[in-house]
Amino acid sequence: MDDKRKTVLSQHHDLDFEADRLDLLAAADPDAVAPGRARQILERELRGLIDRLRAHFRYEEAGGYMAGVGVEKPHLAAEILRLREGHDELRDEMARLEEASFEDGPIAGFRQEIRAFLGRIRHHEQAENEVLERFITEEYGR
Ligand SMILES: [Fe+2]
Repeated sequence: MDDKRKTVLSQHHDLDFEADRLDLLAAADPDAVAPGRARQILERELRGLIDRLRAHFRYEEAGGYMAGVGVEKPHLAAEILRLREGHDELRDEMARLEEASFEDGPIAGFRQEIRAFLGRIRHHEQAENEVLERFITEEYGR
């Protein structure tokens, strides 16, 4: 479990950095680049983050903490099930964002969508970190 936990926490650290980068780009002045370019940049960055999140969720579900912690600490199983369901909700959200066309609307609307999505991702990953910290405290007393 320890190596898997470290991998999950490391992935969370990297994803948090990428989410901050996208947040920063979404806050940038779109007129700093050619017309239409800001939207292209945001779309590319968003798709990249979505791809990495899908791989991260698969890791957590198949090889990462979810199965192991639920078995080792049955009293955390309900919380882990809730987090697992959260993956499905976020996958639906990611599919919606990928399919949505923001080309016709104002870029402010697209930026708002991105920021709302990043907020949900951060909230979810923070809840996972808290479960992992509880596991560590119970297992190792630290
Ligand atoms: Fe995660």
